[in-house]
Amino acid sequence: MKNVSPLCHTPPMGWNSWNTFSWNINADLIKSSADKMIETGLAEAGYEYIVIDDCWSEKQRVNGRLVPDHEKFPDGIKSVADYVHSKGLKFGIYSCAGTHTCAGYPGSFEHEFEDAETFAEWGVDYLKYDYCYKPETADGANLYKRMGMALRNCGRDIVFSACNWGKDDVHSWIRESGANLFRSTGDIQDNWESVKRIALSQIGKECCSGVYCHNDMDMLVVGMHGNSDNEWIADVVGGCTDTEYKTHFALWAIMNSPLMIGCDIRKMSDETKEILTNKDIIAINQDIECRGPYCIKQWNNPENVFALIKPLSGGDYAIGMFNFGDKTNEMSLQFFDIGLPYTSGRGLEIYDCCKHETIGIFTERLCVQIPSHDCMMYRAKVVKA
Ligand code: GLA
Repeated sequence: MKNVSPLCHTPPMGWNSWNTFSWNINADLIKSSADKMIETGLAEAGYEYIVIDDCWSEKQRVNGRLVPDHEKFPDGIKSVADYVHSKGLKFGIYSCAGTHTCAGYPGSFEHEFEDAETFAEWGVDYLKYDYCYKPETADGANLYKRMGMALRNCGRDIVFSACNWGKDDVHSWIRESGANLFRSTGDIQDNWESVKRIALSQIGKECCSGVYCHNDMDMLVVGMHGNSDNEWIADVVGGCTDTEYKTHFALWAIMNSPLMIGCDIRKMSDETKEILTNKDIIAINQDIECRGPYCIKQWNNPENVFALIKPLSGGDYAIGMFNFGDKTNEMSLQFFDIGLPYTSGRGLEIYDCCKHETIGIFTERLCVQIPSHDCMMYRAKVVKA
């Protein structure tokens, strides 16, 4: 029996073409994004996968096989995959459990095993698998099982990224399909309301996510600033502020979502780069135990202000404090509520993951003012106090 090391122990990290480019993709874009992944230090920070989303193929299969769009990818997909691999990165592609992809290209329905074989031949390391055009009478869970089985037996390690937008009670059956991550929400848009809605919708569902099968809250919009060929994603408001992007990143990180960048990494601002490469926040996301956080709301402002607490391997705790309100608000975290009563004679040594410094030892509680739409991200160590 083959003894292989399983894929995706921790949430995958990478870049995906959809949020910024949607249908406007080609080999040069993918290759230059791979170059930038290295040059900008994103790869060193942990980002690994370069993923082509929808719209990469011709509209018709040839001899039953998917074929790359000959204008967008004149040398085929394998040469792009080879290029990405030559940079030390991994390569991902997209298909769909239905008869067509969401943008109307051929889907993998009833072609699961041959498509998995094609992807393996091309050197694909990651497959995002969507849910559009699923025949009414086909069972969704069964379709993900099929592709799961096909990928597991195609002769190559391919991460299986399920994308059914949280439909059909996906949390309850996705793990058994063999998927390594699963989309739990509808598509993200580059605005604060969307970020907020997605985060709130997944608080309380942390127990469904864990090692080898992660709750995917959708690709990041960090750094897009309204720049997208897809008007629906760009939205009319011109994106988020850098503060909102920082909070978005912190939420996805502490909630153990995959971190798939969606902006144009060839044109990142310094602020965007700083957010995306924050090693202390990435370490929280990539903690080996993958324990989901729990939520403690601010008692007198529960609608707007809350903390997420996540136990880390080795005894530390990640503490994120979030203010979704439109003015500065206070969060007062009582240590009693996280298992540390005053009578223990212990306190928390608090390290600020954004300032990258220890701010002190606190007993009983940590009380901070959080500006509107901002957050605090801490790593806490239990110490005698
Ligand atoms: C769906 C997915 C998106 C993207 C598009 C492509 O909407 O949820 O992430 O892959 O399809 O058409």
